[in-house]
Amino acid sequence: MHGGNQSWVLELILMKISESPEDQQILFWMFLSMYLVTVVGNVLIILAIGTDPRLHTPMYLFLANLSFTDLFFVTNTVPKTLVNLQSQNKAISYAGCLTQLYFLVSLVTLDNFTLITMAYDRYVAICRPLHYITAMSPGLCILLLSFCWVISFLYGLTLTLLMTRVTFCGPWKSHYIFCEMYVLLSLACSNTQLIYIVLIITGCFFFFIPSGFMIMSYVWIIKTILGPPSASSKYKAFSTCASHLAVVTLFYGTLGMVYLKPLHTYSMKDSVATVMYAVVTPMMNPFIYSLRNKDMHGALGRLLLGKAFQNLT
Ligand SMILES: *[C@@H]1O[C@H](CO)[C@@H](O)[C@H](O)[C@H]1NC(C)=O
Repeated sequence: MHGGNQSWVLELILMKISESPEDQQILFWMFLSMYLVTVVGNVLIILAIGTDPRLHTPMYLFLANLSFTDLFFVTNTVPKTLVNLQSQNKAISYAGCLTQLYFLVSLVTLDNFTLITMAYDRYVAICRPLHYITAMSPGLCILLLSFCWVISFLYGLTLTLLMTRVTFCGPWKSHYIFCEMYVLLSLACSNTQLIYIVLIITGCFFFFIPSGFMIMSYVWIIKTILGPPSASSKYKAFSTCASHLAVVTLFYGTLGMVYLKPLHTYSMKDSVATVMYAVVTPMMNPFIYSLRNKDMHGALGRLLLGKAFQNLT
């Protein structure tokens, strides 16, 4: 069967345990609550930053962008999973599957680039403070982010178009949750070598090398923070970088758990890891960034409680 002109139906069954109705209900409420927490958390972050002129600095605008991406990211996958858990019909169409793949790849890549941009921003702010104003001008930030968007969506398009050339033979009942790269490749029966080569090369250029630079820049940042006391707001710098590092570790750790393994070892366990990077990471980001950040507390308080909050503080 060729991908392009067939009407295949892939059934995505969320793990074996979910075949019993009670388990499906538990999973349904679990995913629904994670989805709602993610949406509310990220919308609050976007609103808090958007409405507080004091937070219109590159660092917070990048954070709002990350929340925006995460919002789309979970909306691409979780609602379909919720429908699957509730209905007897767990099928996803060929077009639906490729659409999900397209957004999944594009948005993971965009998340990745946004995290890199955030690391660069912190690096310049802490290690090159004198250059910060010129290096992170509003125009440049918009340029940088537009570039990230264009590259990410072109990359998603490229991989999806390559996928349309693959022939799929099933098995059509699949214990996976989303249509992502490895799930589709595990259904393929034609030669997928080209996709692998593209995946390895782009994986290096988009994920490995940048995350290496990112780790290096955080090492520099920590060295600078721990160095001779020149900056007054050292503690603050350290706590924002600690949150960045937590998010970065969570994102790349869970991605690595899934994709740093050969395809033939891909199993149901990996679909749990998929849920980690596709659902849990976007849910955790708002908490990690706002939990210990006084500026975010202030903005969130003003957003939620209005003037009453200002009188309190
Ligand atoms: C993303 O960042 C740009 C540039 O810093 C900013 O203008 C824009 O408002 C941000 N987007 C969101 C959703 O906050």
